[in-house]
Amino acid sequence: MLLSFCGDAYEERFATMISFRGTSHPKGLRNLLQFDRLRMSLDERISKVLSKIEPKPHMLISALQSLQDSIGYLPEQAIKAAAERVGVPVSKAYGVATFYHQFSLKPIGKYLVEICFGTACHVMGAPDVYREFEKVLGLEEGEDTTSNLKFTLRKVRCMGCCSLAPVVRIHRDIYGKVKLLQVKDIVAKYE
Ligand code: FES
Repeated sequence: MLLSFCGDAYEERFATMISFRGTSHPKGLRNLLQFDRLRMSLDERISKVLSKIEPKPHMLISALQSLQDSIGYLPEQAIKAAAERVGVPVSKAYGVATFYHQFSLKPIGKYLVEICFGTACHVMGAPDVYREFEKVLGLEEGEDTTSNLKFTLRKVRCMGCCSLAPVVRIHRDIYGKVKLLQVKDIVAKYE
């Protein structure tokens, strides 16, 4: 069952990704020159984003949010630059970036696949649904993002539509009463 919204809990969390042209992952970058180009554009992007942030400590979360919106995740240099811009210790910026669920320190896929692990969804088979997505996406144990940076799998808290358990959200789409046999077809819609 595909729904376009899910009560008040719906929130858009899709973040803009850096475009790794000609490669599917930083590991796949063919040579150092290419890496330097990517790195330079990342540094430029960080500077541009932070230039719009008021240099005050209370702006730390805004700075991190803006950087994640622009880059798609929070690389080390972004966290350090944010700390420097707003005048807080780097350790504090790391603390905030790792505390809040909204921040990711690793590149995330173009499509965020969120499996609800709230009580109702858990009881109705969310762990099995999660494992099926892992299988279909070809994720090894401990991995949450596909090597082509297309999908990132996440466990999330209650989405506010428990009567549809188990619930899965991909980008802006909500799938309710998800069955294991549907998972392959659901993933295919985004490939
Ligand atoms: S427990 Fe999954 S939507 Fe509420």
